[in-house]
Amino acid sequence: MIGKDLQKAKALLESGALVAIPTETVYGLAGNALDENAVTQIFKVKNRPSFDPLIIHTSSFERIHNYAESNAQAELLAKEFMPGPLTLLLPKKETISDLVTAGSSRVAIRIPRHPLCSELLYSLDFPVAAPSANPFGYISPTNAQHVADQLGDKISYILDGGPCEVGLESTIVGFENGLATVYRKGGVPVETIKEIAGDVQVKAHSTSNPSAPGMLKSHYAPRVPVKLGFDISLLKKYPVEKIGTIRFKSPIDGIPEENQLILSKSGDYAEAARNLFAGMRSLDQLDLEIILAELLPEEDLGLAINDRLRRAAAV
Ligand code: TXA
Ligand code: MG
Repeated sequence: MIGKDLQKAKALLESGALVAIPTETVYGLAGNALDENAVTQIFKVKNRPSFDPLIIHTSSFERIHNYAESNAQAELLAKEFMPGPLTLLLPKKETISDLVTAGSSRVAIRIPRHPLCSELLYSLDFPVAAPSANPFGYISPTNAQHVADQLGDKISYILDGGPCEVGLESTIVGFENGLATVYRKGGVPVETIKEIAGDVQVKAHSTSNPSAPGMLKSHYAPRVPVKLGFDISLLKKYPVEKIGTIRFKSPIDGIPEENQLILSKSGDYAEAARNLFAGMRSLDQLDLEIILAELLPEEDLGLAINDRLRRAAAV
């Protein structure tokens, strides 16, 4: 059931049930992070392997101290980007179970800035664990209906906070020997993190890296196969009406316009990010055989968008 009843969402979470919550990045599938039954339920509903840890969400940086050891660099980043689309990976305290972190000594923490979500989190006396509210491996949901379409029969309530303002998951940052390390490119561009943290290393995409177990190569994938670039020979292989495209600013001639997702006609990265997942879902509803995706310039949110496109194309 979809609705805007904050009290209902609160009561359900307090009873140990799962609720889909809006955030500015993507919708999350939330449960009490301190309740092992609720956490187990999250893995089950999402069909998520238990080695892939969960992000916990709370309403203020002060509350983070109950769950993780902070440091000066983290506080600097938090001051700038929290609340917002940043997740910090910090040494966990005893309060957080190994189930949430998949056995890791670090816990991922985020403070969303979506007003309805903030209000909900503020009203709770526990943090919520919340992965994106999609079946494991599929495209993340950026509105309440996306969640209902795939998980509607498995969760008691979807709190509707409208379409997500950012549309890409949070940027995940941890610290390795004092060096800020980006493990997932996301809603805060890497350049912006660098402005605050100085030296930054990017380790996103390292599938074999045990410190980022969830960074699987194939992810965010629609059912229709995605191919990067535009290979003219494909026009002979597929009837044009079976070809879809994902393009930054303009369509490709010769392919039906209704099969083409234009992320931002004006070339605005934030608009492109906002349109990406919803657009991919719409393409996936069409009767297509292949989707040809164009990579964006490797800057700003183009980096995170390209990361998602590459994963969507990985098999
Ligand atoms: O924007 C977001 O971050 C959204 C919204 C709902 O907050 N959440 C989200 O969660 O994208 P999820 O579970 O779909 O992705 C979380 C990523 C996974 O790739 C996971 O492996 C990584 O964060 N992660 C979580 N805890 C970790 C930990 N302790 N160590 C390393 N990676 C971790
Ligand atoms: Mg996810």
